[in-house]
Amino acid sequence: MSKKTKGNMFVCQSCGTASLRWMGRCPSCGEWDSLVEEVSGVSAGRTDREVKAVTLADAANMDFARVITGNSEFDRVLGGGLVPGSLTLLGGEPGVGKSTLLLQISNLLAEKGAKVLYVSGEESAEQIKLRSDRLGAGSRNLLVSVETGIEDIKLLVEMEKPDLLVVDSIQTMYSPEMSSAPGSIGQVRECTMAFLEIAKKKGLSTILIGHITKDGSIAGPKVLEHIVDVVLYFEGDMRQNQKLVRTVKNRFGPSNELGVFEMTSRGLQPVDNPSGLFLAERKKHVSGSVVMAAMQGTRPILVELQALVTQTSFSTARRMSAGVDPNRVTLLMAMLEKRAGIILNSCDVYMNVAGGLTLSEPALDLAVIGAVVSSYRDVPLDDKTIIFGEVGLAGEVRAVSSADARIREAFGMGFNQVIMPATNVDSMEKKEVKKLKAVDSVLDFLEAAGL
Ligand code: TYD
Ligand code: MG
Repeated sequence: MSKKTKGNMFVCQSCGTASLRWMGRCPSCGEWDSLVEEVSGVSAGRTDREVKAVTLADAANMDFARVITGNSEFDRVLGGGLVPGSLTLLGGEPGVGKSTLLLQISNLLAEKGAKVLYVSGEESAEQIKLRSDRLGAGSRNLLVSVETGIEDIKLLVEMEKPDLLVVDSIQTMYSPEMSSAPGSIGQVRECTMAFLEIAKKKGLSTILIGHITKDGSIAGPKVLEHIVDVVLYFEGDMRQNQKLVRTVKNRFGPSNELGVFEMTSRGLQPVDNPSGLFLAERKKHVSGSVVMAAMQGTRPILVELQALVTQTSFSTARRMSAGVDPNRVTLLMAMLEKRAGIILNSCDVYMNVAGGLTLSEPALDLAVIGAVVSSYRDVPLDDKTIIFGEVGLAGEVRAVSSADARIREAFGMGFNQVIMPATNVDSMEKKEVKKLKAVDSVLDFLEAAGL
């Protein structure tokens, strides 16, 4: 093995940084004792590569006809179906439902006549059979293999010529080009590159499962995001029955799309009406509760935001929030103090988004303020009112995107009043306006909300 073609590198198992010498601490992410020696054969011996270029005009003609899986929520997060030749990563904590979902998708496509190869390094064929019996997934077009060597899988693909390849999981795959153990950053990256090559050369849709821990630290998925075409992550509280899949990246469609599923005794079922699900356990006439219309990708979803404001018994007041950015909450409270004279520095403030959803758009601001002030004054908001709008540091209420879609969802779900930015209302057709309360400052808002 000459030094020229095979370079020994020390690769951080936490962030993927490569270094020529071993160090006790990764200079990039600061992790201790995370550098592992990896022998890589990058580009060595790969002289059989076909090289070609196409004109952009021809490339445009290779229009992708999406394959609809038939699972509405999964199709949604993919941007309308599977694109042939695409490489997708589905990440999530162990036990969240990755294998279940992809076995169901595999079976759906197999029943439509597509040939599906499900490769599992996690479970035996018997275990997969047990699961598939439970899911009613018994299509004859669904092939299962427990190979983990990348060369063996390439052979299998040559032999079976599947239309969809599912790899469960990328951390169990093994490439002989690397000397490190399966699951190490080098192996995970090398195997993903190999699957990318298979996907692109054969036009084979490939979905990789990747395990990820809460902080995203275990070797893998984060490092792969830039290699694959589509990145999907399970998000939210794992203990809940509703499971959320978020599109983090999509080269063929909108990102930030949200798929909502429910775990049942027969696997993950798509939820047709997520707003209904997220509001199902809402208690009415309770202070600190606000319903907001949030855009999740291209779809509006109604969610309940809850705040609890209490006198602090600590020397510094506590601020905690789940599902909304705590820094944003702190900033909005500072704004409230300055612009509305509501001083919360002796209060603990807790915020939560019911249902485990994570919200990050600016339209959240008014709802956060509504929830905090409602709890602080112990005054419940009208329970048929929806709130959305961005708030600036001067206390001004700013326009948000997709106001029409949000309003439609609110009225569709039986709400009869919307408190929203005046600038959005101004650009609207008159007939709807009487149900809309337009506000242009935070003081205006507090009055409209009766706080
Ligand atoms: P699994 O898909 O194995 O998770 P992952 O591949 O992400 O590690 O499924 C995890 C959980 O789902 C497991 O605790 C059992 C539960 N489950 C159901 O509730 N219903 C079902 O039909 C199936 C197959 C699993
Ligand atoms: Mg699994």
